[in-house]
Amino acid sequence: MHVFAKCENFTASREVKAAGLYPYFQPIEKSCDTEVFIEGKRKIMIGSNNYMGLTHDPRILEAAKAALDRYGSGNTGSRFLNGNLDLHDLLEDRLAEFTGKEGALVFSTGYQVALGSIGALIGRTDTVFLDKFDHACIQDGARLGFGDVVRFPHGDLVRLRRLLEAQKPERGKLIAVDGVYSMEGDLADLPALIPLAKEFDAALLVDDAHSLGVLGPKGDGTAAHFGVTDDIDLITGTFSKSLASIGGFIAGSDTVMEYLQNNARSLIFSASMPPSAVAIVLKALEIIESEPERRELLWKNTHKMMEGFRAIGFDIGPTETPIIPILVGPMEKTFHFWKALFDAGIFTNPVVPPAVPEGSCRLRTSYMATHTDEQLDYVLETMEKIGKQLDVV
Ligand SMILES: Cc1ncc(COP(=O)(O)O)c(C=O)c1O
Repeated sequence: MHVFAKCENFTASREVKAAGLYPYFQPIEKSCDTEVFIEGKRKIMIGSNNYMGLTHDPRILEAAKAALDRYGSGNTGSRFLNGNLDLHDLLEDRLAEFTGKEGALVFSTGYQVALGSIGALIGRTDTVFLDKFDHACIQDGARLGFGDVVRFPHGDLVRLRRLLEAQKPERGKLIAVDGVYSMEGDLADLPALIPLAKEFDAALLVDDAHSLGVLGPKGDGTAAHFGVTDDIDLITGTFSKSLASIGGFIAGSDTVMEYLQNNARSLIFSASMPPSAVAIVLKALEIIESEPERRELLWKNTHKMMEGFRAIGFDIGPTETPIIPILVGPMEKTFHFWKALFDAGIFTNPVVPPAVPEGSCRLRTSYMATHTDEQLDYVLETMEKIGKQLDVV
């Protein structure tokens, strides 16, 4: 069979497009923090990961412009060779301090962090243990390693224990979890995972993509939130959410950072974060640390929406964070719900298999420190009206 046969046979997206319900790759023409414009129409954005609302902060934009002027638009190479800036090194020092770890290593995306780090750490004599709901980058990073990959049902630590017991004691072990699960909004139970990891001499990696800025006394993530930073071996994160930029990092011991710096292929064989993107992260960290009121606003908005949705009768699952999924169930109904909201000026993200299990399609909504009460009230009223029309509530 020809290699392109699968493309000919792939009709799903064309069918949804023909029905006028295709929700992805919407071309945003203009963006103003909590609102975006698509085909000239304003939409309230409740589908971003801009938790701190920093992407349009004048201080952030100034920092980016200053870095453009000083270093130019891009680094045209990997950090390993010609693309390492003093700014990358400075950012690593700041991140190590921020996360409470010895060292940190900055990559060009969060996705590449997982590919490079897990891929390099899991050798033939190792096994990596993944929660089934771990982000795709962790799943893919594990596939790149040469070791064994074992998956346990979401949050099921009894099953994880059995899987750990089944391993030969001499195998190296890494347990990798999301700090906050990106489609559910619930937290990994780090206080329960830590003793388990210790008992089996497994290292523990926590992906803090959705926790930075959001959780912890200074927005320093899930481990800080639970007060267990010293017991977590590796913390990974992305700059594409609260930190208003693009890029990612891993933090841990100097020894592991040194190894990854010289062995993580997605770091060595890919160009480095551009100067403006690094400068944005440095400024965003400064703002997040010095303005705790932003986090308070985020949580105020989050609680308002959780309570509002529950009062209407929506099923929002076990979320504990600004990620609030509206569980709809069937795919077609989810697309219809998305479209009605979109037409009413609300941008949400429909999430369907393989990103979530069959039959648990949802609209992923997420909130920002900068959403206004007026915007959120409109979202609640409109969701209630359309949710009732479509029999979701
Ligand atoms: C849990 C989690 N980890 C990692 C990533 C990857 O981050 P990036 O967008 O920087 O590649 C994401 C992004 O969606 C995520 O949700």
